[in-house]
Amino acid sequence: MAITIRQVGPCIAGEVDGIDIRQPLSNEDAAAIHAGMDEYAVLVFREQPMTADQQLAFSRSLGPLERSIGAGLRKPEEYRLPTTFADVSNLDIDDKPMARDDRRRLFAIGNRLWHSDSSFKTTPAKYSLLHAISIASKGGNTEFAHMGAAYEALDEATKARCEGLICEHSQIYSRQQVGFFDLTDEEKARFAPVQQTLIRTLPRTGRKSLYLASHAGGILGWPVPEARFFLRDLTEHATQRQFVYAHEWRVGDLVIWDNRQTMHRARPFPVEEPRDMRRTTLAGDGPTVKQAA
Ligand SMILES: [Fe+2]
Repeated sequence: MAITIRQVGPCIAGEVDGIDIRQPLSNEDAAAIHAGMDEYAVLVFREQPMTADQQLAFSRSLGPLERSIGAGLRKPEEYRLPTTFADVSNLDIDDKPMARDDRRRLFAIGNRLWHSDSSFKTTPAKYSLLHAISIASKGGNTEFAHMGAAYEALDEATKARCEGLICEHSQIYSRQQVGFFDLTDEEKARFAPVQQTLIRTLPRTGRKSLYLASHAGGILGWPVPEARFFLRDLTEHATQRQFVYAHEWRVGDLVIWDNRQTMHRARPFPVEEPRDMRRTTLAGDGPTVKQAA
């Protein structure tokens, strides 16, 4: 049975049929998924519950993994999952929902701001693969915005203004926006800013996209408030409804998105309910600043 993809968002997201992602992936199907990612940027596989090992095998068939170490406020001894996974749950090491005022939770809900995964790392992520183990009774959608379509809809003067700009990304900047300043000196050092180009070009298609994230807190050579207003205006433009797909999760769903050409954000859900989401992440192929040069 061949893979079919049906568009489910306005300019983004395809729902995939004709594949069991728990079985070993053929080269042909892997190629179809990469082509689908280039075209839709977000692919949805509905209701295919799978084990951690099956998710790892499927992810590795698409490319090498990025490890998740030190990206949040969990200490290594508090990790619930191996570092081949990013723990996107609200659960502590005993599988209990974290308290409302738990600083690890308050830091993690910064993911409700629009962002691109790992843009705060020198080599940022390629694809993220998020699998729903358990979901809350309401809320908790993930929304995706297409940065290629958003770039193409900019006027020519704004496109020219963006050209060649380099931004500084850090999780410190995104958390400042939501009033979270409670970081130790070690955490501040760990979250030191990295540089990313404001425009990226998708290697296989040549399509350009804005590379935005709430982690972006400055533009090299610009006064900070001016940079932040410019980035805010671009983000406002890029997250208009016509560029956005909202995914309503069902247990067993797997959603893959391309961090190079999308932003996403989590939506709120009841704080006391467990929501267990497991993310594998494909490594990017180098620093964006070097690629642009
Ligand atoms: Fe994310």
